Amino acid sequence: MTRLLDAAAIWKRFGTLEVLQGVDVSVSPGECLVLLGPSGSGKSTLLRCLNLLEPIGSGSIMFEGREIANTPRKQAALLRRRMGMVFQNFELFQHLSAADNIAFGPIRVKQTPVKQARELAHHLLRKVHLPDKAAAFPDELSGGQQQRVAIARALAMDPVLMLYDEPTSALDPETVGEVLAVMQELAEEGMTSIVVTHDVDEAVFLADRIVIMRPRPGRVHAMMGVDPPRPRDRLAPAFDLMKRRVMRAIDRSLAEEQPRQDSGPSNLSPWV
Ligand SMILES: Nc1ncnc2c1ncn2[C@@H]1O[C@H](COP(=O)(O)OP(=O)(O)OP(=O)(O)O)[C@@H](O)[C@H]1O
Ligand SMILES: [Mg+2]
Repeated sequence: MTRLLDAAAIWKRFGTLEVLQGVDVSVSPGECLVLLGPSGSGKSTLLRCLNLLEPIGSGSIMFEGREIANTPRKQAALLRRRMGMVFQNFELFQHLSAADNIAFGPIRVKQTPVKQARELAHHLLRKVHLPDKAAAFPDELSGGQQQRVAIARALAMDPVLMLYDEPTSALDPETVGEVLAVMQELAEEGMTSIVVTHDVDEAVFLADRIVIMRPRPGRVHAMMGVDPPRPRDRLAPAFDLMKRRVMRAIDRSLAEEQPRQDSGPSNLSPWV
């Protein structure tokens, strides 16, 4: 199948720090690719390179069949509309209601008529299970609700690819599930996505494939297909088995980086 996005041999440095050293990642239409790695391994930088927020040093980024790596700034902004970005800290406009946050992009950027943009906002709020929060301001919403508004805001621009950068890591544990449920529903509807996380459980829950980054910046350690059938049941033996496979791969990536200390059995916070 033709990849929606196919990035090859991506090199990126900040000053003398090599942050990406020849990284290859790709995602096919309808697929969820998870980038799993510890803090500082370059996950956010990679996402920012893929949506052209950061220029790369060298490499190729094919998106919808076209090379985009060297796109001039103005056209990059147009291309970026095809990719919805969701951040760890939501980054909603605090002075706008949920509905206005969602309608903002279509009205300002796509010149969608206000009435139509409002209808779209209400439709998307239903989609993220917040039908009654149109008038609520971000500080009146829980973290999980704010993140779902942020997802709806990204969807409002009608992207073909969603990029999520640690979408649940700023959330209280009780609201993580509602955000993951929305991401999972979107995936089941065929939305293509790349999700950055350092949470193995979340990776196995969402991913069709997992890319494991090395602890030091810049390199991919392994790529793994995730096979438990959907919808995934965290209590199923297949889920637990898959998680153990991922943990073993992470252990191997750690062992290759540094002389092994006897760390005992794996836990669920592999990098801390
Ligand atoms: N704009 C920048 N200028 C200089 N160095 C940067 C910049 N952005 C990131 N870095 C450095 O690049 C490395 C990778 O950062 P990045 O944010 O991509 O990691 P990450 O895997 O997303 O980490 P985290 O899980 O903590 O978010 C880090 O050492 C970071 O300090
Ligand atoms: Mg990051």
